Amino acid sequence: MKRFFTSLTVLAILATSTVSKADVSIEKSSFGQTKSGDEVDLYTLKNEAGMTVCLSTRGATITQIHVPDKDGKFADVTLGFDDVSGYEGEDNQYFGNTTGRVCNRIALGKFTLDGEDYELAINNEPNHLHGGKDRSLDKVVWKAEEVRDEKTGTGVTFSYTSPDGEEGYPGKLSVSIRYTLTEDNKIRMNYSAKTDKATPVNLTNHAYFNLGGAGSETVLNHQLKLEADKYTPTDETLIPTGKIESVEGTELDFTKMKKIGARIKKLDDTAALGYDHNFVLNNQTGKVKLAATLRDPESGRVLTVLTDQPGIQFYSGNFLKGQKGKGGKEYAHRSAICLEAQHYPNSVNIEGFPSTILKPDATYQQITVYSFSVVKPKEEGETKTSEKKPSENK
Ligand code: GLA
Repeated sequence: MKRFFTSLTVLAILATSTVSKADVSIEKSSFGQTKSGDEVDLYTLKNEAGMTVCLSTRGATITQIHVPDKDGKFADVTLGFDDVSGYEGEDNQYFGNTTGRVCNRIALGKFTLDGEDYELAINNEPNHLHGGKDRSLDKVVWKAEEVRDEKTGTGVTFSYTSPDGEEGYPGKLSVSIRYTLTEDNKIRMNYSAKTDKATPVNLTNHAYFNLGGAGSETVLNHQLKLEADKYTPTDETLIPTGKIESVEGTELDFTKMKKIGARIKKLDDTAALGYDHNFVLNNQTGKVKLAATLRDPESGRVLTVLTDQPGIQFYSGNFLKGQKGKGGKEYAHRSAICLEAQHYPNSVNIEGFPSTILKPDATYQQITVYSFSVVKPKEEGETKTSEKKPSENK
């Protein structure tokens, strides 16, 4: 009898795990056509809990993320556009895109590798930004394949092969990113890349978050904690000086949960125009660990970012300019933030930084996870108390 029940339990567990994985649904629809006539698809993933994520083949982009607040009310918490034409327009500031081949800046668009000098497009005077001008990874149309796998979960794998010399980078680079949605409201991004010639690679996702819902006026009341005691100071053009310094006593100290708006004004007149800094994560093990926690006290929504990357760029939407996004909503200055897990900017030119060079015999791999939840009643109580005493909130 006992054995009978044990087998029943085992069967029940097996059945549940099979069901829960199969229960993330995938729908494919058209997202429009690019100016050059390429068809772009949109994949909508939905889990049992109702969380919905939309992914477009242009730029392997996250276009929508619908998650519940503390009362179970859903909102789309990421910035973007209703169709591909918005993403091709001037108002797109890398919303939800995959950014590369090398995200962030390369000083003066120059580097030397294996004795050869390379020159890249200057698209952020005087530097190269986010992989270039016309064929950076955010602008090309990727191939997509649905994934329904017991082990890896349910989602979509995007792949793109960038020919040797594209945007000035050496080597033919084959990139793939598998996005999966879990039953516990996580978006998991597994990146991988291979090259046939040594080349720098630094990939990230450029999603903008406002946990009150995309189009909410500001993100300055959100609270942020970064698992980073240090950062990489930059020059006037946001290129790291090569030093690694402590955040202690500076506006960049997010080692404890702190309101984003608490000290941002002090950065208004700096080159970064707000937060636009690479934080050196305490986790340098190459294993996936907690990197950032973002919390909106009003909606109770919480985002945690986990990654195996050594750095994270915290960008406070300083260039958002009130452009119209999804459903005609306006994206005001500092109404969303990006938490871009990555290697440090300009690593290709700075010896002391972890290397971004991929060699033909190696495989580039990265895992980053966006995990959504809501503040538990106890945490909420704590938040309210600390809000009464703003000094403690800094
Ligand atoms: C990154 C950069 C910013 C800006 C945004 C896109 O976060 O560091 O300076 O270029 O991307 O607008």
